[in-house]
Amino acid sequence: MFIEQIYDLAVEMGIKNDLRGIKEVKKILNRLKKKYEKMSKKEKQEFDKERLTNPFSDTRILNKTNKPVKKILTGIDMNVSELLLADRLGDIDLILAHHPTGRALAFGLDDVMHLQSDILNMYGVPINVAESLLQIRIDEVSRSVAPSNHNRVVDAAKLLKMGLMCVHTPADNCVASFLKKLIEKRKPEYVEDILELLKSIPEYQEAMKIGAGPRIFAGRPENHCGKIALTEITGGTEGSPKIYEKMAQAGIGTVVAMHLSEEHRKAAEKAHINAVIAGHIASDSIGINLFLDELEKKKIEIVPCSGLIRVKRFGKNKA
Ligand SMILES: [Fe+2]
Ligand SMILES: [Fe+2]
Repeated sequence: MFIEQIYDLAVEMGIKNDLRGIKEVKKILNRLKKKYEKMSKKEKQEFDKERLTNPFSDTRILNKTNKPVKKILTGIDMNVSELLLADRLGDIDLILAHHPTGRALAFGLDDVMHLQSDILNMYGVPINVAESLLQIRIDEVSRSVAPSNHNRVVDAAKLLKMGLMCVHTPADNCVASFLKKLIEKRKPEYVEDILELLKSIPEYQEAMKIGAGPRIFAGRPENHCGKIALTEITGGTEGSPKIYEKMAQAGIGTVVAMHLSEEHRKAAEKAHINAVIAGHIASDSIGINLFLDELEKKKIEIVPCSGLIRVKRFGKNKA
């Protein structure tokens, strides 16, 4: 496989596992295409054309190479240190990061957050409320990533002539859809049932061994779950703390999230919403693992690092 084929597969899997549904994602792409067609020549020159086919701006090829990819070094955060590690290992063709870097961080992280308002709307929060509350946070995120030296890793990849890409929201969509299906199938009744359900997943079992397993951040184990929402697994980063009150009004009882800041935790508690924190790196690992399985099936060797808990879900040694 070449780097572009790996990238196309990531986008395809991201669309297929998007909680909004394939039809809705295609509709968003079509709308953007129509806007692009109406742009002036100068606007078209400045426009990132990848956005016409890839709805996830936080997923990009950051340094393209032309040789076939046989071995990938992959992890949650891939920095210059991981690139040097790849150079030391010697036969790595591609660095695959989960968290965005380079232009995928600068343009992408705030852009993919719009997905959150659509998901909140699916769970009953009026779209106007979700959009207006989220927009404040989107602007904050956009400003917060602006001063970072985000192209540092890309510069190093160019010097080492090493392929580099990041796959963020497509992988997060994979874990969101995986957990949603599991919760719908097992129908947990109490908060502690959700915790038990998560603890049956190998990535979370491994995370528990290093003190990063699933935890309840708000509510009690004996509480009824009520309506369970997976609003904080995908969609870039943490949304607005003001949303919990609106979620409670929309009938949501429990939120399953990857991580939760103290400000958000307090807001959830105040709104009487239970918050189950699945764990950041373990949840990210599930999403990226579902993608890596498809690459491994195509005979690409996977070398996990940087926090990634590699679990295979196919073949002889599957979990
Ligand atoms: Fe993630
Ligand atoms: Fe993450």
